[in-house]
Amino acid sequence: MKKIALLTLAACLSATPAMAEDLTPRVNASRAAIKGFFGELGGQLKGALKKGGPLEAIKVCNTNAMGITSAHSEKNGWQIGRTSLKPRNMANTPDAWEASVLEKFEARKAAGEDTKKMEHYEVVTQNGKQVFRYMKAIPTAEKPCLACHGSKIKPQVIEALDKLYPQDKARGYKAGDIRGAFTISQPM
Ligand code: HEC
Repeated sequence: MKKIALLTLAACLSATPAMAEDLTPRVNASRAAIKGFFGELGGQLKGALKKGGPLEAIKVCNTNAMGITSAHSEKNGWQIGRTSLKPRNMANTPDAWEASVLEKFEARKAAGEDTKKMEHYEVVTQNGKQVFRYMKAIPTAEKPCLACHGSKIKPQVIEALDKLYPQDKARGYKAGDIRGAFTISQPM
């Protein structure tokens, strides 16, 4: 009798993963979407830095980053964006789930994990609906990031940032810190 009960239990347990949706295609699609999004943001940032230095590039970030973000969201029918525990643009403030993942990323980094490939995904229930959520860490590089997110930002750049982002928290970073993360929500 005992044996049968155990076997039944084992069968039930092993049946659960098979019934759940295989998330691999969603994970791969999320990675690909972020590659495209990051490529476009990075390309615009590099171009603007080359043309007019950080002062010019801040304007491009300020006027274009959110536009590029929403364009990529609509293209995929998902929500895609950037977030941070210390956001510059308050529109990028994390929700509770994002904040908890960002905190886990910090713990994983402290435990020695490479931030370049750090990601987390999960199916969560929001307002009674199942949503696939994905986040990928954004490491801080010395160049060009510290010119606008570091601890030795030029006075003219600080002045421009203060004007555009009076609540800016995204300063004082070091190379290798986690600046934030890409975040994606897809309806299941
Ligand atoms: C020319 C200045 C400049 C440089 C260089 C720069 N950023 Fe930013 N960053 C900004 C501005 C301005 C915003 C706010 C954009 C907005 O309003 O949507 C921002 C926003 C962000 C955000 C979104 C979260 C938030 O804080 O609002 C992330 C993540 C980010 N930057 C990461 C980086 C990384 C990583 C690098 C280096 C590859 C970098 N940035 C280089 C100016 C800069």
